Amino acid sequence: MLVLGGIALSFNRGTNAEVRALQALDLTVEDGEFIVLLGQNGSGKSTLLNAIAGRFAPDAGRIVLNGTEITDWSEHRRASLIGRVFQDPFTGTVASMTIAENFALASKRGLSRGLSPAVTEPLREEITRRIRLLGLGLEGRIDSPIGLLSGGQRQALTLLMATWRKPDLLLLDEHTSALDPKSAELVLRLSRELIATDRITTLMVTHSLPEATNLGDRLIMMHRGRIVNDIRGGEKSRLRPRELAGWFEELRQIEQLDESAAALLERTYV
Ligand SMILES: Nc1ncnc2c1ncn2[C@@H]1O[C@H](COP(=O)(O)OP(=O)(O)O)[C@@H](O)[C@H]1O
Ligand SMILES: [Mg+2]
Repeated sequence: MLVLGGIALSFNRGTNAEVRALQALDLTVEDGEFIVLLGQNGSGKSTLLNAIAGRFAPDAGRIVLNGTEITDWSEHRRASLIGRVFQDPFTGTVASMTIAENFALASKRGLSRGLSPAVTEPLREEITRRIRLLGLGLEGRIDSPIGLLSGGQRQALTLLMATWRKPDLLLLDEHTSALDPKSAELVLRLSRELIATDRITTLMVTHSLPEATNLGDRLIMMHRGRIVNDIRGGEKSRLRPRELAGWFEELRQIEQLDESAAALLERTYV
């Protein structure tokens, strides 16, 4: 279980350019829950994932993962518990290293620093077996540099690495949005399968309304660093893209009202 309590995080604090990216945010994620995160650009989705992963330290609040407070843990230390896949398929792996070496490195993630770990024979066999299950025909190429693969193939392998030893938490940040439609579909299918097989507790950011309705068992919508909608169960499974589009439209109208109120205030007081 992941518990976030009162998480606040601002960029450029105390300056004119201050952005309150997360505001007193509370969230409890149950074991095995698959949450889809939605929200306009800049609503704080990536910042939330980065705060959980330890890339950005919150100004206030606590993060507790499976009973252990990790608020002060480094990003490196958290990587032993948390798997991540980003939007850019080229950031998750080391291009010059072979597929097998990348897996060896990933299997040690968060545990030790230093030189590339050895690709032992049992590990080779496990890598080959699990890559074969992906059905991409890459099992014969595990000694080739991973940089020779397409973005879609690399993202599929990054996903396999991120879920290699069932992580306590999996964070996916628009991990299919930089791929061509066919690769995106493939990586999405793999995500669904890997998450379901191991019942991995997952937070996935997407901007696709069909994805948000088809995937996951809980849907959270963020706006200006806050959670403004949180639905699950039957309500989640009955949700259709058209309703979601309506939520976005409502937020847009509220923003327009805010803007015209601000303009009015300015005219009144200047
Ligand atoms: N490294 C950063 N420095 C300054 N501002 C940032 C940084 N990262 C994000 N922001 C700002 O924080 C807000 C939330 O951004 P982000 O979490 O990336 O939104 P989302 O992922 O929902 O599009 C935005 O206003 C964004 O401009
Ligand atoms: Mg983002």
